[in-house]
Amino acid sequence: MKILVTGGCGFAGSEVIRALLERRKGLEILVVDNFSRHGSEGNIDPLRALGCDVRAGDVRDRAFLESLPRMDWILDAAANPSVLAGIDAGSTSRDLVDQNLYATVNLLELCKTWSASFTLLSTSRVYSIPALCALPAVKAESRFELPAGARGTGWSAAGVTEDFSTAPPLSLYGSTKRCSELLALEYGQAFGFPVWINRCGVLAGAGQFGKADQGIFSYWIHSWRAGRPLRYIGFGASGCQVRDCLHPRDLVDVLLAQVDWGTRPVERVLNLAGGAAHAMSLRELSAWCAGHIFPARLDADPQHLSDPSVERPFDIPWAVLDCQRAREIWGWRPSTPISRILEEIAAHAASHPDWLDRVAG
Ligand SMILES: NC(=O)c1ccc[n+]([C@@H]2O[C@H](COP(=O)([O-])OP(=O)(O)OC[C@H]3O[C@@H](n4cnc5c(N)ncnc54)[C@H](O)[C@@H]3O)[C@@H](O)[C@H]2O)c1
Repeated sequence: MKILVTGGCGFAGSEVIRALLERRKGLEILVVDNFSRHGSEGNIDPLRALGCDVRAGDVRDRAFLESLPRMDWILDAAANPSVLAGIDAGSTSRDLVDQNLYATVNLLELCKTWSASFTLLSTSRVYSIPALCALPAVKAESRFELPAGARGTGWSAAGVTEDFSTAPPLSLYGSTKRCSELLALEYGQAFGFPVWINRCGVLAGAGQFGKADQGIFSYWIHSWRAGRPLRYIGFGASGCQVRDCLHPRDLVDVLLAQVDWGTRPVERVLNLAGGAAHAMSLRELSAWCAGHIFPARLDADPQHLSDPSVERPFDIPWAVLDCQRAREIWGWRPSTPISRILEEIAAHAASHPDWLDRVAG
C-alpha cells in the first residue's frame, strides 16, 4: 500500500509512521512537510532511515501536489494545530484557513483523482465551547470533574461523545477542522472514496514540539525540568483544567482497520482519545513532576503558579472524549497509559535539556 502522509515530520505524523511501519510490512510511505513547525526538520533523517521518501513541499501548493505519484491513502496530519492560531502573533486568520482548510480541499481533490482513501486527524476542538463550558463540572481538590452519574445529550462523566454539540464558537482552529470534516465527508460521498474523520483529544509523547498553546504535557514537563516559569491561568487560575491524553502510536490499529474496511457502510466520524481513565489536570501534572523530576522547584506551590490576571481565549475547564463508538466498532482502546506517556516525556527531557529552545518559534 502506498501512503502519502502530509505533515509527516510533525509529532503525530512521524509517530504514526513509525507505528505503521512496525505493524505492517510492504508499506511505501511518501512524506510531505513544509517544516513550518520548528523541530519537524529533526524527523527527516530518522524517517528516511526507515525507508520513507521525505519531500519538502507545501500542501497549499496544488501544482506540487499534482506532481506527486499516485497513492492509495492520504493521511492528513499537516496543520497549524494551535488553538490560538489565527488570533495570535504567529499566524493570521487567512493563513490559518489556507493552511488548515483550503489545503485539505487540495488533498480531497487528489483523493478524487486517485480514488484514494482519506483520513483526517481532526480534533476535540470541533466541540462547542459554550456547551463544554456549560457542563456541570465542579472543582474537586485538584481538578474539575463531572458528578458521577450525570449525563446529557452527547456527554457523561465518561466524556463527550461524537453526538455532542458542534455549534460555534469552536475557536478559529476548531472551525477550520470542522469545515474540513464536512467537506471531506461530502467529497467522499460525492466521489465514492473512503473518508475517515478521527477526532483526537490531546496527543502527547516524547519528541513533541511542546509550546504553551500546543503540546501542553510536553511543554510542562520540559519546562519543569529546565526550571522555566510556569503558571496556571483561567478558571480561577487553580490549574484544575482537565485534558485527556493519548500517544499517537495508539491510533495506528484503528487507522489501518479503517483503510482496510474501504467504502462499506460504517460510522465515519470517531473520537479517539485517552478518555477519562487517561486524563489529568495541570495541578495534577505539577504534582507528578514534583514526584518524578524535581521535588523542590521553588515555585511548585500552586499559589506561586497561579496568575489570575490572565484568561486565555477558547479555554475550557474539562475536555475528555468518550471513545465508546471506537470500542464498539473497532474494538479500540488506548494501550499506552498516561503514566507511561509522562515517563517517556520526562526521559526525553532529561536527554534533551535544550529541547524547548530548539522547538521555540
Ligand atoms: N497534537 C495534538 O494534541 C492534536 C490533537 C488533535 C488533533 N491533532 C491534529 O493532528 C495533526 C498533527 O498535529 P501535530 O500535533 O502533529 O502538529 P505538528 O505541528 O507537530 O505537525 C504538523 C506538521 O505539519 C507540517 N505542516 C504544516 N502546514 C503544512 C503545509 N501547509 N504543508 C506541509 N506541511 C505542513 C508542519 O511542519 C508539521 O511538521 C493536525 O492536523 C492536528 O490538528 C493534534
